[in-house]
Amino acid sequence: MLRTHTCGELRISDIGKKVTLCGWVQGIRDLGHLIFIDLRDRYGITQIRITPSDQPELANYVKEISREFVIQVEGTVRERESKNSKNPTGEIEIFPGTIRILNSSKTPPFTIETETDGGEELRMKFRYLDLRRPPLQKNILLRHKTALETRKYLDSLGFLEIETPFLIKSTPEGARDFLVPSRLNPGTFYALPQSPQTFKQLLMVSGFDRYFQIVRCFRDEDLRADRQPEFTQIDCEMSFVQQEDVLQTFEGLVKHLFKNLLGKELPVFKRLSYAEAMEKYGTDKPDLRFGMPIVNLTSIVKNKDFKIFNEAEYVGGIVVEGGATYTRKQIDELTEFIKRPQIGGAGMVWVRFPSGEDPKSSVDKFYSKEDLMAWKNHTSAPDHSLLLIISGPKEKSLKVLSELRLEVGQRMGLRKADEFACLWITDFPLLEWNEADPNLPDSYRGRWVARHHPFTSPKNEDIPLLDTDPGKVRANAYDMVINGVEVGGGSIRIHDRNLQKKMFSVLGFSEEEAERQFGFLMNAFEYGAPPHGGIAFGFDRLCSLMGGQHSIRDFIAFPKNNAGRDLMIDSPSEVSEEQLKELNISLNLK
Ligand code: AMO
Repeated sequence: MLRTHTCGELRISDIGKKVTLCGWVQGIRDLGHLIFIDLRDRYGITQIRITPSDQPELANYVKEISREFVIQVEGTVRERESKNSKNPTGEIEIFPGTIRILNSSKTPPFTIETETDGGEELRMKFRYLDLRRPPLQKNILLRHKTALETRKYLDSLGFLEIETPFLIKSTPEGARDFLVPSRLNPGTFYALPQSPQTFKQLLMVSGFDRYFQIVRCFRDEDLRADRQPEFTQIDCEMSFVQQEDVLQTFEGLVKHLFKNLLGKELPVFKRLSYAEAMEKYGTDKPDLRFGMPIVNLTSIVKNKDFKIFNEAEYVGGIVVEGGATYTRKQIDELTEFIKRPQIGGAGMVWVRFPSGEDPKSSVDKFYSKEDLMAWKNHTSAPDHSLLLIISGPKEKSLKVLSELRLEVGQRMGLRKADEFACLWITDFPLLEWNEADPNLPDSYRGRWVARHHPFTSPKNEDIPLLDTDPGKVRANAYDMVINGVEVGGGSIRIHDRNLQKKMFSVLGFSEEEAERQFGFLMNAFEYGAPPHGGIAFGFDRLCSLMGGQHSIRDFIAFPKNNAGRDLMIDSPSEVSEEQLKELNISLNLK
């Protein structure tokens, strides 16, 4: 070893020890009579102190060194005169005997410290330098530990980690596939898996009984802070289980992770049906770190002279406690917020309920004090609160209210990064009518698509509705939501060939098409498929949540940007004519 200790290790109890450290020079401060070097590695930062009057040669040598040089320092641990309580090694420093440059460095394009001056693009291009920064190192460490603890927990319950192939065939799961041309089979393509869904089900048919895999998945969809084209799942499947067994097992996993990695004991997870969640929070992934549920006001605001409410399919509101003091400017800001194109609100009605005074609203012209007090009663709005009301088509109004609720929660500081509200959403609709989802290929539009995936089982009692009212069929499907983020989702699967066939027909597959795409699965179901079900967690999302952050990018060593590009290796990129020819592909870009 070129070192005896790391840069994060030495303490006051090590004073007097002869040590050798290696690392990167984070900074040099030359005060004339003293020179300090901050030496960094992934464990921490240790201060090196040189006294030029005692060590003129060393002081001279050190002049060649600048930021990010890799050096080796041999010296003695001494107690510092002025200690730094913020740094775990802040009580000691090294008096060097020798310093050796192991490698030089160009001046880095941005400062490699906890806070950096580098813009997003530059840091992506020099990702290997960004990864030297302590916050990113911490994230990657958390990711490693999360994977390790996941394996420990699942292994202890008898789950086997089994790999499934990456070169598979296109399966419709909701996004577009990434395709890989086959050279050996001209004109044909593999698809990269959007998830190992069908393979894990086949493993159940094979009798493996409890499977998991920490596995890369690929989806060609529009990207956001919590979406990457390649991301990682903790993918799991179990045989001989019902929904409750799956929920218990994986609530257990998340509790285990939070306890062992963050020292947090999570309470029993709340449960909400999809219908309840939509009605109360306007979303199937509510952030329950705070209350502020949506209250339906439709029945009590009608039949006065206010046309907008009279004509609305739905009127709903949220109560902002303590909000009676919101200024016009603050309220206008919220109105502007809901009018953003991505939220699509048209307008907002407000009512202030100051303590000991009459209510004041933006619709005073149409509603009396008694009317407003009836709203206060109906919404259980306390004194000193503010009621914000949205009206219009139901689905859209609930969406606007959901966004408004999050925005107000954010402004009030109710969405704390170190608090966790975990819940299950259950009883999802099995199907969804697809009109114009830009994430879906054209062939998916204007018909029923599986809300989760086509292998999810309908609730037994709802099976007859498949023929009469498919939109009403509920699924044995569930999502785990933490702090408003969908971290995982799964279902009890169909294990009966005929029901699976029926499902494909509801989804608009012809018999031949279903056979061509999924014949392998339906055939397998003829050889004793056990009842089974499972779940997959978004591993990157889980890590970023546990790390108290929103963007998953900082928990992936080499992520892609919002355009799906890797700026460091410059990918995707063009390939040579020769490669294309070998693959029988001709590009016809106009
Ligand atoms: P689903 O499609 O819900 O289910 O995916 C499971 C979880 O994966 C995460 N996730 C993503 N994370 C980052 N980037 C993305 N592009 C991305 N897409 C999804 C989410 C999501 O909850 N085979 C089923 C699971 C099952 O039924 O067992 C599946 O893949 O956190």
